[in-house]
Amino acid sequence: MKAKQSAAAVGITLCIGLWAVVSDGAKAQQAALPQASVSAPKTAVQQFKNIQVLKDIPADELIPTMQFVATSLGVECEFCHVHDAFDKDDKKPKQTARKMIEMMLTINQENFEGHREVTCYSCHRGSTNPVAMPPVMSAEMEMSANAHAGAEGSETKIVGGPTGDELIEKYLRAAGGSAAINKVNTRVMEGTISFGDRNIPIDIYSKEPDERISFVHTPDGDSVTAFNGHEGWLAAPKRPVHEMHGPDVDAAAIDADLRFPARLKDACSRTEVRGVEKIGDHDAYFLDCERQEKTPLHLYFDEKSGLLVRLVRFGETALGQLPTQIDYTDYREIEGVNIPYRWTLARPGGRFTIQLSDVRQNVPVDDAKFVKPPAPPEEPKAPAK
Ligand code: HEC
Ligand code: HEC
Repeated sequence: MKAKQSAAAVGITLCIGLWAVVSDGAKAQQAALPQASVSAPKTAVQQFKNIQVLKDIPADELIPTMQFVATSLGVECEFCHVHDAFDKDDKKPKQTARKMIEMMLTINQENFEGHREVTCYSCHRGSTNPVAMPPVMSAEMEMSANAHAGAEGSETKIVGGPTGDELIEKYLRAAGGSAAINKVNTRVMEGTISFGDRNIPIDIYSKEPDERISFVHTPDGDSVTAFNGHEGWLAAPKRPVHEMHGPDVDAAAIDADLRFPARLKDACSRTEVRGVEKIGDHDAYFLDCERQEKTPLHLYFDEKSGLLVRLVRFGETALGQLPTQIDYTDYREIEGVNIPYRWTLARPGGRFTIQLSDVRQNVPVDDAKFVKPPAPPEEPKAPAK
């Protein structure tokens, strides 16, 4: 079912959030988005045609929630939905899924004081058919049971080491210190983005405060991912501009922050050092950063250099959170600031790596770059593909 990723889909995949839904998802997103200018957020039942259970969730959260459901079961949207008619209840799994949502809410209500402890993924683990019995021991399991005491894996040890504030301080120093970092007003980066074995040129422009736009130069034209400080959007060749959804906007704001190391301390309302984990072949401190009214960030700082080597953020949906993990490597110094030239972004729907070849700072970047293109006139009807 999963068509080979078209160039146009690259833009969608690139987006920081949960839009890995390629073909049909794009349609649904259109349905979900055009009224973005309305200020009172709509609920799902107001926006969609046939919502019976998830009535009161923000309309914005419906597609990410669907994404959560699909990845939890390891299926595509079509497993439950009829092509081009998401409101129809023709498929049995969609009807089952409704009952499952109610079951999940009841389990949490009755056993976990309403906290969302059990999700679709708790049982399904990426399969439509949850396993009810423990398996017999296979040869591989025997091997790994014997090797259990070995150093392999990412075991968290609790340490009596540095505090959260100390880790953040050390990171700030390693990244160049606040004086150097606060001088950065713009950054222009060029490099290559790789999806599997496809390598495509990319340019990224960032400007203080909070503006960022990237252009992936596909053979068909540019795929754009942009954030102007409060709104994000995506554009791909031959596709209308899409607005970013709720959880993606937070992610975009983090990516757009040129002074992240200097602002991190204030961004965390509470921190807790959870231990040491192996990232690649280095030990890294794992810091949980709680944020006011936002999902937490999980930060991993290299034990020796103090630099940020991994960041995990969580996109909130109505039924569970979707993680995005970014690993940073190849730090290089430019004008006293240490920045990663390579990062790999991975989430349930896919992964890509960006390798920079050229970085320039404090060069002029025109504000016009970050002006959102006008929403397309209501599409008559997307032509059949
Ligand atoms: C496991 C089944 C399942 C999967 C997979 C799934 N959905 Fe859904 N979807 C549902 C259910 C159930 C509803 C109705 C929820 C309700 O009644 O509250 C729904 C509703 C919707 C709606 C609202 C339609 C309307 O107008 O009423 C859209 C849009 C949607 N899904 C999109 C998607 C997309 C995009 C994907 C793939 C990322 C997806 N769904 C994957 C089960 C699923
Ligand atoms: C407490 C465990 C549990 C949770 C939580 C759970 N499920 Fe299930 N689900 C099952 C089991 C077990 C089956 C298989 C039932 C069977 O074999 O008849 C199943 C079957 C299904 C099926 C039918 C699959 C098919 O092959 O037709 C769908 C769809 C489904 N679940 C969706 C969901 C969704 C969506 C969620 C989250 C809202 C969810 N489930 C949460 C245990 C769970």
